[in-house]
Parts: sequence; C-alpha cells; structure tokens
Amino acid sequence: MTVESVKPEDGSQTGTQAAPGPRAGRPPGRPPLAGGAVPLLGHGLRLARDPLAFLGGLRDHGEVVRLRLGPKTVYAVTAPDLTGALALSPDYIIAGPLWESLESLLGKEGVATANGPLHRRQRRTIQPAFRLDVLPEYGPIMTEEAHALVERWRSRQVLDVTAESFRVAVRVAARCLMRGSYMDARAERICTALATLFSGMYQRMVVPLGPLYKVPVRSNREFNRALADLHLLVDEIVADRRASGQKPDDLLTALLEAKDENGEPIGEQEIHDQVIAILTPGSETVGSMIMSLLLVLTERPDLGDKIRDEVKTVVGDRPVAFEDVRELRYTANVVTETLRLYPAVWILTRRTVADTELGGYRIPAGADVIYSPYAIQRDHRSYGRHEDFDPDRWLPERSKEVPKYAMSPFSVGNRKCPSDHFSMAELTLLTAAIATAYRFEQAPGSDPRPRIGITLRPRRLLLRALPR
Ligand code: HEM
Repeated sequence: MTVESVKPEDGSQTGTQAAPGPRAGRPPGRPPLAGGAVPLLGHGLRLARDPLAFLGGLRDHGEVVRLRLGPKTVYAVTAPDLTGALALSPDYIIAGPLWESLESLLGKEGVATANGPLHRRQRRTIQPAFRLDVLPEYGPIMTEEAHALVERWRSRQVLDVTAESFRVAVRVAARCLMRGSYMDARAERICTALATLFSGMYQRMVVPLGPLYKVPVRSNREFNRALADLHLLVDEIVADRRASGQKPDDLLTALLEAKDENGEPIGEQEIHDQVIAILTPGSETVGSMIMSLLLVLTERPDLGDKIRDEVKTVVGDRPVAFEDVRELRYTANVVTETLRLYPAVWILTRRTVADTELGGYRIPAGADVIYSPYAIQRDHRSYGRHEDFDPDRWLPERSKEVPKYAMSPFSVGNRKCPSDHFSMAELTLLTAAIATAYRFEQAPGSDPRPRIGITLRPRRLLLRALPR
C-alpha cells in the first residue's frame, strides 16, 4: 500500500550510469561547480526562475555538484543512491535556509525542525498515531470525508480545486489526529492562513531580504496576520481539548500527556509547536497531491475509467470504503505514479555537522546540501519513458526494475514522513471515490502549470465535475 513497499531492497541496483564523478579510487576532492553560474548571483537566478528544469539538468554536471547562490556555496546531490546515503547518514541534520524559514512558521520545538535527542523523543511520541495497525481507526472518518466531498461537488458548477483539496486535507488530518467536531469551523481558517503563509515563506527562502520582510507593506501585513491566526487557532484547539476533559486515544492526547527526558510534562510551547509541525506539512502536502491527482484525472480520463472499473470489481454497487483500499491496486498505482511525477515535496535540504564524504567528494562541515525528489524521480537513467505517466510501472514485476532510492517521495531514514501509510490510504480512497463519481474538464480561467512553492502543485485548477 505504500510507496516503500514497491521499492526493491537490493542495494546492488544503483541505476546511475556514467554520471561524471570520482566515487572511489582517489582522495576525495571538491565536487565540480555546475555550469551556468553568472558573476555575483551565481546560479541563483536560474534556480529562482525555473527550479524544476534547473535541478533536473544538474545530473549532467555530476552526481554531487557545487552551486553558487550569491556568496554562498550549496551542494546538490543528483544520484538516487547518494540521496539515500545522505538521508541515512548521521552527518547531516535538518538545518539550512528552508528550515530557518519554516521555523518562523513551525516554531523551534516541533518535530519537523528538531534534531538529535529532542527529535528522537518527539518521533517516539507521535509515531504510534501513524502505525499501520492504528490506521483502520481512521477509516470511518476518511470514508465519511471522501463521500462528503463527492456529494458537495454535485451542487457546484465549477470547482475551485485549490480550496477544495486543502479543505479536505485539513479536515482529514485534523479530524483523525485531533478528533473533535470543533475542527469543522476552524478547518477553513487553517486553510486560509496556510495558503498565505506557504507562499510567503517560499518567497522568504529564495529571496532572503531579511529586515525588508518587516516593512509594513500589504504582503508582509497579510503574512503576519495569517501567522498570528494560525497560532491562535492552535491555542484554541488545545484549550478546547483541555476544557472538554476528554482524552480520546489520538495524537493530541499523546502530545498533552507526553513527558520529557526527566519525566516531566512537556512545555506548552512544545505542544503548540508540535500541533503546528504536524498539521501544516500534513495539509500542505496532501492538498497539493489531491490537486495533482485531479489534474491527472482531467488530462487522462482513461485512468479514471479504469479506476471506476476497479472499484466496481472490488466493491460492487456499495460505496467504496477505507476497508477496500488494500484491494485497489490500480488506483494505488495511479497515486504512486502521481507522487513520482508530481512529488509534493520537490526539494529537500540538509546541513552537514562534520566534514564528510559523499560519492567520493568532500563536503565540509556546515555546508548546505540539497536534492530534489522531483529530479530524482524523473531521471531517465532510473526510468524507461521517464516522462510518461504509466501506473503499470508499479506492478510488482516491473517495480523491481526501479533503482533503490529512485522513488522516495516520503524520504527515508530518521526524517522519513511518519504519515506515509496514512497518506497513501487517504489519497487512494479519495481518488477511488472521486473517479467513481465524476469525470472532469477544465473550466475557463484554469491554469494547470506547476506552482513551485514550499510544495509543488498545479497553479490554479478550476474544474467542472461531470457526473458519470
Ligand atoms: C516529513 C512528504 C503527508 C507529517 C516528510 C518528509 C517528506 C514528506 C518527504 C521528509 C522531509 C525531510 O526529509 O526533510 C510527505 C508527502 C505527503 C505527506 C509527499 C503526502 C502525500 C504528511 C501528513 C502528515 C505529515 C498527512 C501529518 C498529518 C510529517 C511530519 C514530518 C514529515 C511531522 C517531519 C518528520 C521528521 O522530521 O521526523 N513528509 N508528507 N506528512 N511529514 Fe510528511
């Protein structure tokens, strides 16, 4: 059911053919400088202008390359096995411009930005809520939300897919992990706040103008208002739960009952930051993936037809439910292929904590290192007909050909997304319910080009849902 489960475990297949670089055999040296740097700005302009094409092209310059972003040197990794080595190595931590920018939103004490023992303790607290054997408990909520979405679309002429996708993503994450009907009213506010924040944060990351973001112009005021509202919302959610006196077996209870290294309850700030650190990536990533899936279904109606046929075969005439997800292999493969070509998390960054070596190159302590799941998952060296949308490449006999770490949209190692099974189940169920009910066509004003922000998704998708 997960992308992990279709990945071969045989480390002998690296899939990297003849990329330039030393790998082994001589003392590690500096990685080559990628071509195309210009005076002063280095590669910054090209990275900002067309990041997907730029990062995808880096593989031609080497498996590890140096980039110059203004005065800064950043290292980019382009070979799948080396991204796996990086993700699994203790020499790299979560730090760097992306995370510094994220901390302004997520806080400093949340699991997504913590490192070392604090991170390990926090993972231990949240992990049980995402365990495979716990997922069926979320089944009724996921099923209810999927069918509510389908019903809601019956009365709409044109769907604003951005709002609809983020809405359901927030509702599922919040209702499953922080149970309570109180979320319904607040889900819309969370969506609005997150939309403003994520676009502002990306801008702050690629154009780091520091104090200029404090100038009280409209965009900065909107950003600050959205940030304040998100923090207020989280405080309200925590306060409501405490006031209710209830302790359902969910993530919020786990956070409220968590103890630190000394056996003391964790602080208010940490609880607050944890809720934000889980809700925000949870809704932004899933919302982006739902948008990409809807674009795929619009552009390839044949896929929707096959999904409808599969659902009919598996469930007959009753409505599809969470319990069916396991059997919906073709639908899951459509989701997996969408994750390959349109990974919501398209770029990842790390910082080295010590002088280290990668692919036979020396990387100094304190260096920022980036890699792009988007570029890795579209590498022609790893995938035949790499740009084609082909769900059948995830059939068991064919997926064996995929090199290790060439498909890691949820990452690997100690920072691997805790929600990989949860998200795959949610996306598969939603896709099955939606494709069974509708075909889609784009409405005037729709702009499906990629929007590259903290996550990757279609820019503005306006669809007509045509009942089957
Ligand atoms: C981390 C992808 C859904 C919570 C990550 C990472 C990736 C990822 C690639 C690793 C980041 C890194 O290595 O630096 C995705 C995708 C999703 C998804 C593609 C949807 C299809 C969710 C959901 C939640 C969630 C639904 C929660 C409700 C988190 C958290 C982390 C994380 C808390 C930080 C883990 C840590 O640092 O230990 N996600 N994610 N994600 N994700 Fe997800």
